[in-house]
Amino acid sequence: MKRIAPAIHPVIAVDRGSPKALHRQIYDAYRAAILDGSLHPRQRIPSSRSLASELGVSRFPVLNAYAQLLAEGYLESRIGAGTLVSRSLPEQLTLCASSKVRFAPSSSGPRPFVHRPLLVRRESSPPWLAGWGAFGVGQVAVDQFPLNVWSSLIARRCRSMDTKSFHYGDQMGSEALRETLASYLRTARSLHCEVGQVMITSGSQHALEISARVLLDSKSSVWIEEPCYRLAREVFVLTGCHLVPVPVDQEGLDVVAGIKRCRKARAAFVTPSHQFPLGVTMSATRRFQLLDWAQRTGSWIIEDDYDAEYRYESLPIASLQGLDANARVIYIGTFSKVLFPSLRLGYVVIPPDLVDHFLAIRRAMDLGPPTFHQEVVADFIAEGHFARHLRRMRVLYSERRQVLVDSIGKELESKVKVLGDEAGMHLVVTLPNGSRDTEIAERAARQNLRIWPLSTSYLGEANSGFILGFGSTPVEEIPAAVRKFQKLLAVK
Ligand SMILES: Cc1ncc(COP(=O)(O)O)c(C=O)c1O
Repeated sequence: MKRIAPAIHPVIAVDRGSPKALHRQIYDAYRAAILDGSLHPRQRIPSSRSLASELGVSRFPVLNAYAQLLAEGYLESRIGAGTLVSRSLPEQLTLCASSKVRFAPSSSGPRPFVHRPLLVRRESSPPWLAGWGAFGVGQVAVDQFPLNVWSSLIARRCRSMDTKSFHYGDQMGSEALRETLASYLRTARSLHCEVGQVMITSGSQHALEISARVLLDSKSSVWIEEPCYRLAREVFVLTGCHLVPVPVDQEGLDVVAGIKRCRKARAAFVTPSHQFPLGVTMSATRRFQLLDWAQRTGSWIIEDDYDAEYRYESLPIASLQGLDANARVIYIGTFSKVLFPSLRLGYVVIPPDLVDHFLAIRRAMDLGPPTFHQEVVADFIAEGHFARHLRRMRVLYSERRQVLVDSIGKELESKVKVLGDEAGMHLVVTLPNGSRDTEIAERAARQNLRIWPLSTSYLGEANSGFILGFGSTPVEEIPAAVRKFQKLLAVK
């Protein structure tokens, strides 16, 4: 027989000294909780035995109260599901309306808050970000993830949990994962990196937030790439920084232009391996110019290496941090592209003299990352599954990218220009300036194409175009999706 999970007890106070009968007190408390919305339609209520024990009363008053609530339609009984709050409630509308009035902000005096959040996007997700669909940016091939291996590693970790596993973990992150990562980053990304410099975070966004709190004051000037990864930009806005957009050309961030605009910026945020969104790789000359600028001006470089593992035309490019002889680069990475985004695991490699500062901020923010999945990822890497998965994904994404480039060439010929397809999981198609990419992206989303309008990545004068992810779109679906895209572009 299916077991019914115990329900959560609502807050009910019974007063034995009251002249009101116990069953009436329970009835009134439930009725009030149902009508003011504290208990929702379909919510399960505790068994009479459990509630009686919680309240320290006999079952009779509870049974009486439940019987009356059932008779009046506040509760309903369903076989296999126990007793639930009724789906159609009497008096609901009138009383809910009055409870709304009770919470109306106009009646509650001054309501001060910080104004910075108003500077970043407040509207609900634009349609190209909502949901799953062809060309979704940042979406990975989830159907290819080795779930059987993953679940066996999870089960094994569960079985081996001991007292220590239940307590707070290391605030820098699990030692096992940091060791494995440090070794991976030294080998695969040429980083200067000891395990003591690696901090595990909740995705690279969190790593960036901690870095901003350590390095930047309100009003610090920060170079950002133009166009830029919007969520990174928003971290600097929320810190109160002065943003200095620096143009990106076919060699990456134009360092000379940055120096002209604001030589003494406190930091530069860059994506040198695969610029987001344009996809260019920063040239060696620009890398040395940037490092030289940082050293001369005492500035920091924040390197976001979000998808460097995927390169199709050449071997992965070494990180900028690996070229830095002066410990001026804060290196940020993520498992969102190489495993999956809901894992929310990223990392930051911190210059040795800043580790204590990062740790102090981290401690105040969240006391350290959740431990369980870090250890599963450490096992996944240490036992060779990660390297195998990466190899498979490189082949798969390379194929998807090729079919996408070919389909664009066939369907759109010279109408668009393709950029940044040598690496990563997205490419860019540019449109003639003045084209309304956001409008097209909205219409595309209605047809389940999640193309991102390029113009939204710019702070200043924007170019038009689209960012097309190919991570989650199977090869056989790409030509039809490109034809749909072509038709959308053809509509005047
Ligand atoms: C430039 C860039 N950085 C980082 C990320 C990943 O962020 P997170 O690790 O917070 O999922 C993305 C995701 O699309 C990105 O485009």
